[in-house]
Amino acid sequence: MHEPTTGIPVDRRVFCACAIAASALACGGGGGGGGNTPPPPPPPGGSTLKTTTDTKAVFLSQPTGTVHDYRNLGSFWLARDAGGIYAMTAICTHQGCTVNSWNGVVFPCPCHGSQYDLNGAVVQGPAPLPLKHFEVTVDGNGFLVVDTGKVVDAQVRLT
Ligand code: FES
Repeated sequence: MHEPTTGIPVDRRVFCACAIAASALACGGGGGGGGNTPPPPPPPGGSTLKTTTDTKAVFLSQPTGTVHDYRNLGSFWLARDAGGIYAMTAICTHQGCTVNSWNGVVFPCPCHGSQYDLNGAVVQGPAPLPLKHFEVTVDGNGFLVVDTGKVVDAQVRLT
């Protein structure tokens, strides 16, 4: 039998209990569906549908370049360009910081200097990818609803 050589005496029963516990962790923690691994929790906040305080009619009457901040509702920006209305994430594609402003020209990320244009395309790195766009619909009262769980093409517009 080979004893641990830390120089600190270890009671044999304690050593065995630790070895068994470590073995159980190694077996269950491999990510391969171990029997004792609980299922992942549901996404926080429940639904990915976020009802804004903007109506389609009013938002479409705004000039091109209008951007409304919905970071507190679901980490997204609601925007309007010549094509119509769209929504895109406020989460930077570099390392996940929140893109926290629109300066009228770009969305700058405060962490490492990435910049995105009005449509979320990268105009300055290190961001590797554009901002994701989300589906925008209208509820029964005319309010714009953004589904942060449904990614759509960057050219999709609500008109
Ligand atoms: S997280 Fe936005 S530039 Fe790095």
